[in-house]
Amino acid sequence: MLKGKGEYILAITGASGAILGVRLLERLRSLGFEVHLILSREARAILREETGREPKALSSLASFSYAEEDLSAPLASGSFVAPNIRAMVVVPCSMKTLAAIAGGYADNLITRAADVVLKEGKELLLVVRESPFNAIHLENMLKMALLGVRIIPAMPCFYQRPKTVEELVDQMVSRILDQLGIHGKEGSRWKGRRPRVEGRKRVKRPRS
Ligand SMILES: Cc1cc2nc3c(=O)[nH]c(=O)nc-3n(C[C@H](O)[C@H](O)[C@H](O)COP(=O)(O)O)c2cc1C
Repeated sequence: MLKGKGEYILAITGASGAILGVRLLERLRSLGFEVHLILSREARAILREETGREPKALSSLASFSYAEEDLSAPLASGSFVAPNIRAMVVVPCSMKTLAAIAGGYADNLITRAADVVLKEGKELLLVVRESPFNAIHLENMLKMALLGVRIIPAMPCFYQRPKTVEELVDQMVSRILDQLGIHGKEGSRWKGRRPRVEGRKRVKRPRS
């Protein structure tokens, strides 16, 4: 994978799947990108429950770390975001944070930064997690998608026959990186269906 330069905002909210945010942070940092990290209050608790990790340890991995209450942080202003930030990813994104962003209700640093990213015409990716979705969730996602926001459900695929949760997580994180234009060479890409071998005869793919 190519090493890169650039700054990203990574917000982790209180949906299930904190490990997705953790792995994305680790991958971005190992590639040389700067990461501005914001954890919501609920994300801190869920991070402990789901991964056994402490928010402090995670913050130390980031280039910059902020409390969600810190509305005076640079990320709250377009004058900082416009020249410095490439994109913002909320992973996992709770339905509450999705609703707040969709409603323009910027009462914490995560929703304010998302609001700023949108108004400054930067890329916003929401890795939403809930099941099942109700009509409010779907309406909010549609509203965001129509504004050009990438809605990436925390929904792995199974065609690579993953053997561990770590493999599933890494594959999902690779797809998020793809959406940021950061493409790796790892082996989790679909390369087409292999022609089936029956007996000794190779069955050719039908021409389309
Ligand atoms: C263990 C646990 C798992 C949760 N999982 C989800 C989830 O997958 N999706 C979701 O939208 N909310 C989930 N919630 C509820 C959110 O944490 C709650 O709506 C919270 O207000 C979100 O706040 P935040 O977006 O500021 O982090 C979960 C809560 C707990 C305690």
